[in-house]
Amino acid sequence: TAPSRVKSWPLRDLAQGTVSLTFLCPPHTGYAQEKKVVKSKVGEKVGLPCCHEIPTSESLQNYRVYWQKNITEVVLAYAAGKRISEPNSVRYENRTEMDPRNLTLWISPMEILDNGPYRCVVQYLRLSQNPMVVCDEPVNLFVTADFSEPNLTAEVSADSCESTELVVMCSSYGGFPKPKLSGALNNMSVVWNASWVTESNLSPYNITGKLSLNVTQDVNITCSVEYNGFTKSTSLLLKKTNDCVLPTVAPSYSVITASSIIIVIFLLAISLAARYLPRHVCSYCHKRQDSVEQDVKEGTKPPVSCKLTSETSFV
Ligand SMILES: *[C@@H]1O[C@H](CO)[C@@H](O)[C@H](O)[C@H]1NC(C)=O
Ligand SMILES: *[C@@H]1O[C@H](CO)[C@@H](O)[C@H](O)[C@H]1NC(C)=O
Ligand SMILES: *[C@@H]1O[C@H](CO)[C@@H](O)[C@H](O)[C@H]1NC(C)=O
Ligand SMILES: *[C@@H]1O[C@H](CO)[C@@H](O)[C@H](O)[C@H]1NC(C)=O
Ligand SMILES: *[C@@H]1O[C@H](CO)[C@@H](O)[C@H](O)[C@H]1NC(C)=O
Ligand SMILES: *[C@@H]1O[C@H](CO)[C@@H](O)[C@H](O)[C@H]1NC(C)=O
Ligand SMILES: *[C@@H]1O[C@H](CO)[C@@H](O)[C@H](O)[C@H]1NC(C)=O
Ligand SMILES: *[C@@H]1O[C@H](CO)[C@@H](O)[C@H](O)[C@H]1NC(C)=O
Ligand SMILES: *[C@@H]1O[C@H](CO)[C@@H](O)[C@H](O)[C@H]1NC(C)=O
Repeated sequence: TAPSRVKSWPLRDLAQGTVSLTFLCPPHTGYAQEKKVVKSKVGEKVGLPCCHEIPTSESLQNYRVYWQKNITEVVLAYAAGKRISEPNSVRYENRTEMDPRNLTLWISPMEILDNGPYRCVVQYLRLSQNPMVVCDEPVNLFVTADFSEPNLTAEVSADSCESTELVVMCSSYGGFPKPKLSGALNNMSVVWNASWVTESNLSPYNITGKLSLNVTQDVNITCSVEYNGFTKSTSLLLKKTNDCVLPTVAPSYSVITASSIIIVIFLLAISLAARYLPRHVCSYCHKRQDSVEQDVKEGTKPPVSCKLTSETSFV
C-alpha cells in the first residue's frame, strides 16, 4: 500500500528527472498521523514544523525537501542544498524561508490565503540509488484575521406604556474565518438572525445580526463575534423609554406647586371668611341657644332675632 500512496501524491519532482518511487521506505505507515495544527494571525510570522531534523553530521546537501500546500501548490522546495524556484509559488515569493536544520517553513507576513493544509516531504539522497522518503507529514495552518469590535445599535419600532419593541443590529467586519454570532440578554442567551458577506471563502467576512425584542424594562444586551477561538463582544444597555410610571419622579415639583396653591387658596378663603365671621358665629350661637333652650325646657319660646342682644336676653 505504501508505494501506491506515494505515487498518488501529485507533487512534481522539481529536481533533475523523475524519481522512481519503487524502493521507498515509508517510515510512517502503520500509525495514523495525528494532524499538526498551527494557528496564526494575519501579518504575523509563523513557522510550520516539518517532520525531520537533519542531524549535525549531515547537511541539507543530502536532502530534498518539499513544502507543498493543499496537494497541488509548491510553496518551497530544496534539492541538494539549493532552493528550487517554482512558477506556481509566486504568491509565496519573498515571504518564505526554511530552517536548514529542522526544516521549519517560515511564512511572513501571514495572509488569509495562506490558510489551509500543508505537507512537508523529506527525501534522503543516496549515491547511485533512488532517494529515500524520510518523512511525509501534513500540518494544518489556521489563519485568523481580527474582526472589528461589534457595533450594536437599537431602533425602537413600537413603544407603549407596557413594552418597547426594538430592532437590534450587531455588525462586525474584516475578519477571518467565518464567524459565529452569539448573544446575551441580561445574561440569558439569545440567537441572532445572522448573515455573512464575503468575496470568497478565503476573504475577510462581514457579519450582521438582527434581533427583534419586546422589552418591558431596561435590559443589557451583548453581541459576541467568535472566530478560531477568539471573541469580540459589545454590550448595550437598552432603556425602556416610554415609561408611563415616569410621573413618579418629576412630579415632586408639581406636588409642591399644587400643594402651595392649595395652601394659598385655603389661606385666602380663611381671610375672606373672616370678614363674615361675626354673622357665622352668630348663627352658630343662635342654633346653640336653641338647643340649650330645648335642654332647659323653657316654655317661653319667642323667636330670638339674630342679634348680639339675644345672648343677653337669654342671660
Ligand atoms: C526550528 O528551529 C528554529 C530555530 O532555528 C526554532 O525557532 C524552531 O522552534 C524549531 N522548530 C522545531 C519544530 O523544532
Ligand atoms: C521578491 O524580491 C525580489 C528582490 O527584492 C523582487 O525583484 C521581486 O519582485 C519580489 N517578488 C515579489 C513577488 O514580490
Ligand atoms: C484544496 O484544493 C482543492 C482543489 O484545488 C479545493 O477544491 C479545496 O477547497 C482546497 N482545500 C482547501 C482546504 O483549501
Ligand atoms: C454603527 O452602526 C451605525 C448604524 O448602522 C452607524 O451609523 C455607525 O456609524 C456605526 N458605528 C461604527 C463605529 O461603525
Ligand atoms: C446570570 O448571572 C448570574 C449572576 O450574575 C449567574 O449566577 C447566572 O448563572 C447567570 N445566568 C446565565 C444563564 O448565564
Ligand atoms: C432572518 O433574516 C432574513 C433576511 O433578513 C429573513 O428572511 C428571515 O426570515 C429571518 N429569520 C428569522 C428567524 O427571523
Ligand atoms: C465589509 O465591510 C467593510 C467596512 O464596512 C467594507 O469596506 C467592505 O466592502 C465590506 N465587505 C464586503 C465583502 O461587503
Ligand atoms: C410586547 O409585549 C406586550 C406586553 O408584554 C404585548 O402587549 C405586545 O403584544 C408584545 N408585542 C409583540 C410584538 O410581541
Ligand atoms: C452588560 O452585560 C455584560 C456581560 O454580561 C457586562 O460585561 C456589562 O458590564 C453589562 N453592562 C451593563 C451596563 O450592565
